[in-house]
Amino acid sequence: MKGIILAGGSATRLYPLSKAISKQIMPVYDKPMIYYPLSALMLAGIREVLIISTPRDLPMFEELLGDGSRLGMQFSYKVQLVPNGLAQAFVLGKEFLNGEPGCLILGDNMFYGQHFGHMLKEAVASAQAGGACIFGYEVADPRAYGVVEFDAEGKVLSLEEKPANPKSNYAVPGLYFYDETVCEKAANLQPSARGEYEITDLNKLYLNEGTLKVKLFSRGFAWLDTGNCDSLLEAGNFIATIQNRQGFYVSCIEEIAWRNGWISTDQLTALGKEMKTNYGRYLERLATLNR
Ligand code: DAU
Repeated sequence: MKGIILAGGSATRLYPLSKAISKQIMPVYDKPMIYYPLSALMLAGIREVLIISTPRDLPMFEELLGDGSRLGMQFSYKVQLVPNGLAQAFVLGKEFLNGEPGCLILGDNMFYGQHFGHMLKEAVASAQAGGACIFGYEVADPRAYGVVEFDAEGKVLSLEEKPANPKSNYAVPGLYFYDETVCEKAANLQPSARGEYEITDLNKLYLNEGTLKVKLFSRGFAWLDTGNCDSLLEAGNFIATIQNRQGFYVSCIEEIAWRNGWISTDQLTALGKEMKTNYGRYLERLATLNR
C-alpha cells in the first residue's frame, strides 16, 4: 500500500495567513501541519508517499521533507495545477501507485487517539483484500463534510457531500483506503455541480459495487479540523495540552520511523542532534529508551 497526501488548495478561509504560504506547512503548535497526516500514513506502515500540492507550494514541501531517506522512507512530489477536487489525487497519482492499492489523506486532517495504528492497519488489510475502507466520526454539525448514513444494522445506506439536510451526524474524515481499481474509477468521474471531482463520488462507486467499508472512530478519539483560525488555534492547543501533560510528542515522524524499525537508534540520535530545540532533545532522549 502506498500513500498520497493532498496538500494543495488556496485556503482562502485563512486569509491573510495563507496568502503567501501553504496552510499545510503552517505550525500546529510545534510542527508543520503536514507532519500530522504524514504520521498517520507512517502508523499505517506506509513507506512510499506522494505529496501533491500547488506549483507555488510544492518546493517548500520538498525542502521540508526531502526524499524521505532520513526517515527510511521514499517521498515523491507532484504538482496539482488547479484545485479541482480530491479525487484528482488518483488521476495525478496513477503513475506513482503503478497498479497498487492506495491511501489518501488530506494534508489538513489531524487524528489522535488510542488504537489508531491498529485501526489503520486493519484498513490497509481491508483495502488490500479489495474495495474501499473509509471512516465515520460523529460531529455536532456535519454539513461541511461528506456524510454517511447507516441503517439499524450498521449497513451503509447513503453518502452525501456537504448536504444541507444531513441524514446522520457521521462525517467522513479525510482519510481513505482503496484497492488497486481506484485510479481507473477516479479517471471516469464527472465533475460535480460545484465543478469538483468529488471524493464522495468515488466512494459512492465502491458503495454501489457493494465493496465500501466504513469504520467508526469512537467519541474518545480526536479528529481535528484546521479550516479556520479558531480551529487552527484549538488544534495547536490540543497538541500542546497532550504533549506537556505526557511528555510524549504527538505525531513525531522521527519517533514513528524509529519505532517502525525504519531508522536505527544511531540515526535517531543524529536527527535529534541536528535540532537544538526541545524537539531535538526529545529525539535524543527517546534514543536512550527501548524501542
Ligand atoms: O475534511 C474532510 C472533508 O474533506 C470530507 O468530509 C469531505 O467529504 C471532502 O470533500 C473534504 O471536504 P473539504 O470541504 O474539507 O474539502 P476542501 O475543498 O476544503 O479540501 C480539503 C483539503 O484538500 C484542503 O486543505 C485543500 C486540499 N485540496 C482541495 C482540493 C479541492 C487540494 O489539495 N486539492 C484540491 O483539488
